[in-house]
Amino acid sequence: MVIDAGPPGEIRIAPSILAADFGRLGSAIEGIDAETDWLHVDVMDGHFVPNVSIGPPVVASLRRYSSRFFDCHLMMSEPGRYLEAFQQAGANGCTVHVEIGGTASLIEDLRSLGLRVGLAANPDTPFAAVAPFLSDVDLLLLMTVFPGFGGQTFMADVLDKVEVARREVALNELLLDIEVDGGIDVTTAPRAIRAGANVLVAGSAIFAQPDPLKAAGALRTAAHDARQ
Ligand code: DX5
Ligand code: ZN
Repeated sequence: MVIDAGPPGEIRIAPSILAADFGRLGSAIEGIDAETDWLHVDVMDGHFVPNVSIGPPVVASLRRYSSRFFDCHLMMSEPGRYLEAFQQAGANGCTVHVEIGGTASLIEDLRSLGLRVGLAANPDTPFAAVAPFLSDVDLLLLMTVFPGFGGQTFMADVLDKVEVARREVALNELLLDIEVDGGIDVTTAPRAIRAGANVLVAGSAIFAQPDPLKAAGALRTAAHDARQ
């Protein structure tokens, strides 16, 4: 299914379902629809990260409940083996990690499947590792926690890398989204936006709140206010 991600660079709220109740995912994502833009789907293989989460069958089920852009974050050592399955299941964009290598060929595979292409870097991965690929991808995901678990503390040091990335994007007039993921809430979101991020992933700050829709709205307002 082709679902437009929207123009690069605009503020987008991407709730991470990792923090939602997996027993009622369908209604959880319908509940936050009005205040969010994309849906961030965290896929963990128990190898690249020390945790396991969900795979293509869950993406296919969710597709019946949402017409949002599905932003699939593949925390996997061998994502290439599953890209087609994710595409078939209804993923719209897939993000692979630069740390696993083989980036150029993964980018090609993603493109040939018609998926929007994302490249992710862990907090301790230098900007230089992703720099050579920036003109070939649609989204750069700069992790603000070490991937594997929700509910961790935002790593403010990563903001320097976000600033560098945003400067590069402006300098080279690239059409690129810069996404941050990990510890994003109403306090950290404005800092990330001011540093140059435009896609905000948030799990706990939305789904672990008593009123997830209201929490998503507050995050959206905080992000937009930070841009003015
Ligand atoms: C972490 C995942 C994140 C996570 C964010 O490995 O990639 O998307 O769900 O969760 P919070 O927003 O709770 O830090
Ligand atoms: Zn994620």
